[in-house]
Amino acid sequence: MSRQTAEGPAGEEVRFRADGRELRGRRGESLLAALRRAGLEVPSLCFLEGLPAYGACRLCLVEVKRGRRARLATSCDHPVLEGLEVRTDTPAVLEHRRVVLELLLARAPQVEALRALARRHGVEASRFEARAQRGDPAEDDCILCGLCVRVCRVGARAEALCLAGRGRHKRLGARPFGELPERCIGCGACAWVCPTGAIHMEAEAVRRLRERWGSERPCRYALLGLATGSVCENDYQCARCELDQRLVDRAGGRHPVVLLLEGRRP
Ligand code: SF4
Ligand code: SF4
Ligand code: FES
Repeated sequence: MSRQTAEGPAGEEVRFRADGRELRGRRGESLLAALRRAGLEVPSLCFLEGLPAYGACRLCLVEVKRGRRARLATSCDHPVLEGLEVRTDTPAVLEHRRVVLELLLARAPQVEALRALARRHGVEASRFEARAQRGDPAEDDCILCGLCVRVCRVGARAEALCLAGRGRHKRLGARPFGELPERCIGCGACAWVCPTGAIHMEAEAVRRLRERWGSERPCRYALLGLATGSVCENDYQCARCELDQRLVDRAGGRHPVVLLLEGRRP
């Protein structure tokens, strides 16, 4: 049975407008997802369909209007609603994006993916003071988007990661590789979703996974529920594994955990 919203059943088809075009979407779904389906480009760093929106990066801001009132809102966690009018490229939206990109650059100026994104939006440098770097790429390159935490909880169902602390003390409370949290199953989904490349599947982590499980080491896809086998026969060298290649193909070149986020099973 579909969930009720104040405006009617969630998931029911509704019409709305974006940048002068009439679009259709499902009531209550992420506005960002609906805009992208329609081919509209809205940048984002903390959104992946299938994961709960978190609204951390604020890059996906658009102008939304209902009735006479227009305001800026993050589109990833804004629901599609009947009669919504959306603008993705007003001067205020574009200026906001540039400021957000400057703030992100000040946080992690060395991350090439951020620099490239900023350049695409006309930002060459940040006017804000750069954050002091600690010399640890896993921390220095992290923009606290929370994608790794959510994919670990919802996709891998491992809950190995968390964000800890507040304000400028906020950081990834457990690291996927390096410290190797107890609950990590070594699926690598966190490294795949990380928009800055802060997470690496390091040889050291693989060695520790082997140590933990010995000759009984389970296949990471079996642990994810994507395969029926149980023991990894390839010494965690997934690039050599036919099953890995098959699942990656089925996921369209993405990490196979995406199949779970889309509700698909092998
Ligand atoms: S590799 Fe470990 S920490 Fe990363 S998503 Fe998978 S279970 Fe979670
Ligand atoms: S490690 Fe990557 S995915 Fe995780 S919060 Fe930091 S930037 Fe986001
Ligand atoms: S994608 Fe919407 S706030 Fe990050």
